[in-house]
Amino acid sequence: MKIINYNLIIIALLFVVGCSKKENNNQSQKENMENIQVSDYGVTAKDDSIKKYTLTNKNGMKLEVINFGGIITSLTAPDKNGKYEDVVLGFTKPEDYFNGNPYYFGALIGRYGNRIANAKFALEGKTYNIDKNDGPNSLHGGKEGFHTKFWNIEPVKDAKFPTLKLTYTSADGEEGYPGKLSVTVLYTLTDDNALEISYEATTDKATVVNLTQHSYFNLSGNFAKTITDHELQINADKFLPVNETLIPTGEQKAVKGSPFDFTVSKPIGKDINSDDDQLKKGKGYDHNWILNGSGMRNIAKVYHPQSGRVMEVLTDEPGVQFYSGNFLDGKFDTKTGGKNEFRTGFCLETQHFPDSPNQPSFPSTELKPGQKYQAKTIYKFSVKK
Ligand code: GLA
Repeated sequence: MKIINYNLIIIALLFVVGCSKKENNNQSQKENMENIQVSDYGVTAKDDSIKKYTLTNKNGMKLEVINFGGIITSLTAPDKNGKYEDVVLGFTKPEDYFNGNPYYFGALIGRYGNRIANAKFALEGKTYNIDKNDGPNSLHGGKEGFHTKFWNIEPVKDAKFPTLKLTYTSADGEEGYPGKLSVTVLYTLTDDNALEISYEATTDKATVVNLTQHSYFNLSGNFAKTITDHELQINADKFLPVNETLIPTGEQKAVKGSPFDFTVSKPIGKDINSDDDQLKKGKGYDHNWILNGSGMRNIAKVYHPQSGRVMEVLTDEPGVQFYSGNFLDGKFDTKTGGKNEFRTGFCLETQHFPDSPNQPSFPSTELKPGQKYQAKTIYKFSVKK
């Protein structure tokens, strides 16, 4: 009799635990969906209506993404007083994203982020001519790169944190690239104030792939201010010097003793105006740093002393393009007043090296049928008081 009683008690307990677990799961799924709001964003010149997805984490941090170009239009982060403000550059009018987005604000970049020399490369004995949209070179996948495409977006129902799944299929021959490429990107906003970006792609013919995200950051909360007072550290002992058209020369140069040394944190503006041939070629910093180590690791940290905002960058990529916003030219209004002037934003675009398809000594960017392209980058926000 006693044994039966115990059994009954155990069964009853298991039932109660099971039910409450189920309830918890349902609850967290429900919350996640409540933490993703969908709204109308704008209408393109071709009459396509664009949606905006707003993700909110448990701290109230917000990420806004549109299904045009997979563009991040807003991302908030707390300052030392706990005030959440937008930290990514963007336009004030939807049509400025739709009609060219000259700075690639917030966009997903592909099929090949950064430059390919003379807009051509050879693969398996065949030469491919790709779109020439940057002097003699191809930049960021060509004029009609992934930043101009409609991405299918679905909120991920069973994710731990608010997550969007973006998918896009790039046709064989699009912008000159071989192979039909199926791309999936996940944007996750975690409860420790990190934006996680995961990339995957497969192809049906040998091709080259180098995906990245082109958000410009300004941690001050005021987009009219320059970013030269932000303190930057990059875990890289070497960088890739470039020629006049910003194509790597092939040399892997030590940063030590040069303005390119960010191994110890320093203000972006400290050496930016030095008399240096590479800085002249880039009109400032617009170079790829060869990141130390491999696998998922901390690669960079940015600190804005006035606001106390800190952004750490983690990636499994071999390189990062640190671009100090040298082509921003004040033609557009910022979201906080004033204009997007010279150096009012910076990018840390994690990626493989520029022009890899033409530089056999660089890590390969080739993707073959049956292989899976995978990469991940995290931008994590915190404060230092
Ligand atoms: C990248 C390039 C820059 C510039 C920007 C977009 O970061 O390296 O040279 O083209 O994109 O303006």
